[in-house]
Amino acid sequence: MANSQTIGVVGGSGQLGGAIARAWLRSGCVAPEQLWISNRSGTAAGFEEWSGIKFTTCNQDLVDACQVVLLSVPPHLVSTLDINAKDRLVMSVMAGVSINLIRQQTQATRIVRAMSNPAADIGLAYSPWCAGIEVTDEDRRSVHILFEACGETDEVPNEEQIDRFTALTGPVPGFVAFYADCMVQYAVKHGIDAAVANRAVRQLFQASGTVLGSSPTPPAEHVNDMIAYAGTTAAGLEAMKVSALADCIEEGLDAAYERVKSIAPS
Ligand SMILES: NC(=O)c1ccc[n+]([C@@H]2O[C@H](COP(=O)([O-])OP(=O)(O)OC[C@H]3O[C@@H](n4cnc5c(N)ncnc54)[C@H](OP(=O)(O)O)[C@@H]3O)[C@@H](O)[C@H]2O)c1
Repeated sequence: MANSQTIGVVGGSGQLGGAIARAWLRSGCVAPEQLWISNRSGTAAGFEEWSGIKFTTCNQDLVDACQVVLLSVPPHLVSTLDINAKDRLVMSVMAGVSINLIRQQTQATRIVRAMSNPAADIGLAYSPWCAGIEVTDEDRRSVHILFEACGETDEVPNEEQIDRFTALTGPVPGFVAFYADCMVQYAVKHGIDAAVANRAVRQLFQASGTVLGSSPTPPAEHVNDMIAYAGTTAAGLEAMKVSALADCIEEGLDAAYERVKSIAPS
């Protein structure tokens, strides 16, 4: 980090924990010598390009050595952590696992609950986080630096919003892949070769993501601009706006949010 704090990732060989840890290493905000990773199997896969990282199968050894601990194990395995992290800053990206449950499982009092996604590996994650009451201003600065290294980040006011973001921005490409597939299926239905349709839609989404992501213009303004341009897309957008599409997207996001509420042990 900007300072010499040692940081550990419990579950750092997993999809998300590994992506976040590599984002830290690539950005330089954590040096390999400052990083600990634990898991049950002892694998160090995914970190071959760095030397100096400490790997362990004992979560408590990691906690004892680190001032900051990120928990990234599957929600249903939260009770297998077996750690006492009383005086540590504990961060978690586990879906649906509340600050209360993290406190019970770790004895920590300085707890940050976050969401992120594996696009951290390419510096493109969105990582919202909320702080428990004993988190200090210095902790907040550290958390901001760590998640900024993964992409974009915001502190949000409460855990309810983390649950909403778990549904919205936890999956990559997630719901966007479904929309893209609908477009591929439309093209195929109208006689376009599947491989061509796939290439075309992937390129469309890459370009659209870059355009949407590279300026602060809200998506709604892009829609309004296209409607104002009054070309072929305007006709399509007008039809979509009066269709049930927005309701269907809400229904899907609601279902994901409901699942967040039940994915972890209570
Ligand atoms: N992947 C995503 O797209 C995504 C997105 C948003 C949020 N999340 C959240 O991120 C967390 C991790 O998900 P994931 O997809 O990265 O899972 P994953 O790929 O299955 O990785 C889980 C990691 O946890 C380790 N692990 C399991 N039990 C452990 C224990 N008791 N002690 C130490 N390490 C343990 C596993 O290694 P061993 O098997 O060797 O122990 C592995 O490194 C989950 O809570 C999930 O809700 C994931």
